[in-house]
Amino acid sequence: MKILITDSANSAAQKAAFFMQQFVIDKPNAVLGLATGGTMLKVYHHMIEFFKAGDFSYANVQSFNLDEYVGLAGTHPASYRYYMNENLFQHIDININNTHLPNGQSDDLPAEANRYENAIHQANGLDAILLGLGKNGHIGFNEPASSLASRTRLKTLAKSTREANMKYFKHIDDVPKYAITMGIKTILEAKNCILIATGESKAQAVVDMIEGPMSANCPASALQMHEYTTVILDKAAASKLKNLDYYHYVHPNGDEVNL
Ligand code: GLP
Repeated sequence: MKILITDSANSAAQKAAFFMQQFVIDKPNAVLGLATGGTMLKVYHHMIEFFKAGDFSYANVQSFNLDEYVGLAGTHPASYRYYMNENLFQHIDININNTHLPNGQSDDLPAEANRYENAIHQANGLDAILLGLGKNGHIGFNEPASSLASRTRLKTLAKSTREANMKYFKHIDDVPKYAITMGIKTILEAKNCILIATGESKAQAVVDMIEGPMSANCPASALQMHEYTTVILDKAAASKLKNLDYYHYVHPNGDEVNL
């Protein structure tokens, strides 16, 4: 794992946005995996800023989001389709028909999950995936005890996940209990993984992910098996790491070092 520790949540987001931009510059028809959540808002803000200032295009990019709630229409303000349209897609030149999320309103949810998994394969897989981190170590909606070999499927959300996402709904009872999420194996098949975590509330999950044993108890720890994972942290999210000095030594200020 490449571990980059930046000064602030904003510089972590900027760095993540820079990586995503670079994938598109290097491969204009890149297939990107995308995430939602509060942390990503800043990342998308910078991606939009870079797009407006830059000389590159998302016109040939395809995107697949990690997950979607079951039961919410794309017009529901808390749905991930709505979030992506509002916070990224409508501000860049991506073709909306090339942006994919699972259909959480499907009549046959297991079939929809299989269709989504197959669609990723038909697109020749993900060149890069942007990931956030749940306080309980989840990636996508792969809650603790998810199989490390899992594929896109229906998942029951943990109580703590529903509580963490309550702010987007009027009442806890409105937070969906289920979601369709890419599986851990699906994520591990992406050519590059970029995970961003900021804030002290993520510090323990960060330790479990990077320094803990690989375990379904912390789904993000499966990234230890991925050859090209970059973890971008702010100081607060990195604060509990045991080998902090080493990570700073290898990448001072979270920067790449040319040997
Ligand atoms: C949700 C999403 C995840 C995201 C996580 C963290 O559960 N399904 O993809 O990484 O939240 O969100 P936040 O950035 O708001 O802490």
